[in-house]
Amino acid sequence: MFASLGVHEYKNIITHSVQVAKISRHLAHSLGLVHHPDQVYLAGLLHDVGLIFKASIENYEVFIDAFRNIPDLEKIVLTLDRKDRHSFISHIVASHLGFLNVDCTRALLYHHTPFDEISDEEGVALLANCIKAADTISLIFLKSAEMFSEGTLESMIKSLEKDMGLNQEVRKAAIDSLKDVRSLLDLLDNEPHFKSDAELSCANFEKATKLIAALLDLRSPYTRIHTFSVARIAKQLTSDLMTEIDQRFMGIAALLHDIGKITTPLEILHKRGSLNEIETIVMRTHVVMTEKILLKSGLETFCRVSTSHHERLDGSGYPYGLDKSQINMYMRILQISDVFSALTEERPYRKAMSPFDALSVIEEQVNAGKLDGIVFEKLKQLINNGFTLVTFSHVLEDIFGPDLTNLVLQEIND
Ligand SMILES: [Fe+2]
Ligand SMILES: [Fe+2]
Ligand SMILES: [Fe+2]
Repeated sequence: MFASLGVHEYKNIITHSVQVAKISRHLAHSLGLVHHPDQVYLAGLLHDVGLIFKASIENYEVFIDAFRNIPDLEKIVLTLDRKDRHSFISHIVASHLGFLNVDCTRALLYHHTPFDEISDEEGVALLANCIKAADTISLIFLKSAEMFSEGTLESMIKSLEKDMGLNQEVRKAAIDSLKDVRSLLDLLDNEPHFKSDAELSCANFEKATKLIAALLDLRSPYTRIHTFSVARIAKQLTSDLMTEIDQRFMGIAALLHDIGKITTPLEILHKRGSLNEIETIVMRTHVVMTEKILLKSGLETFCRVSTSHHERLDGSGYPYGLDKSQINMYMRILQISDVFSALTEERPYRKAMSPFDALSVIEEQVNAGKLDGIVFEKLKQLINNGFTLVTFSHVLEDIFGPDLTNLVLQEIND
């Protein structure tokens, strides 16, 4: 799922992350480091997520300009993060996921630090240094417009040779990996090459899903809280109508509902007027993209519910035009949660509605036979009982943990 975010603004950073994940895992294995290969991979994958948070939160204009117009990630770092704050933010994000071991999350702190300056256990320092070497290899590959030539290979080897921040053995392993024709192309393609037998607890899976959702939503100031808002309302409504397990399931299905929107161009998300026919088609494809991404990720169970948020009980929705008999309770809850959240958020073409105005709009749709009446009654009760809308602080607290959010914000604004 993480790899599927690699389009539009995120193309380079996600390609880079996937490559660093694979190369770090390969290097750690060659060096015989004790960390589990899956753990090393995930550390590599997350090493630069802090950059996305830092950039988008600090100054959205600069973020969007940098990620869109500068395909060179080194320049992005120089433009946005001269003081290397993203390493710390990536570390906090990874620590809060709950399934990365402490050594692997600590390594993220030092992925730009010269080996001799890392004051931590040797295993952590070596792993951090593997990520550093992987980072160099991947950045040069991206700069070469992902074309593999002898020039590219030569400049990778030279960079590694002259990087005094690399431990001798890490440098050797990195250069050897570039000379190994069996692994070279796998390390540098766009494929994740990740399969794990490890099991995630439901709670940790939800945390991972939240990270993906946050990255998706950070693309635009208009969507910054959308997914979290939908998930929070959907969970709340489910707890009133169904069991606790249903509530867990619903929360995750809601967090995944718009993941396909990663492919919707910002020009469409940010358009001030109404969308024309062609733009509407492009916009609507996001649901089908959600379906493709979830099926590819092996998440069939959530997929049916997540992709139903634009279906309507009278058959007028999309993409399948499902009718009442095909729309179960989860789907009905998700539909109302999605509409309510969207209405209470600002859009480029209108101001945010108050919760009560949003309720009236939804009531019309219930009366027109499009949305579910029972779910609507529960939503009304919820709002009348003083349910507070999600804010961006809630989103950040979910990602960084309540205790560390302020610290992270200080780092970002420093
Ligand atoms: Fe980095
Ligand atoms: Fe990097
Ligand atoms: Fe949505």
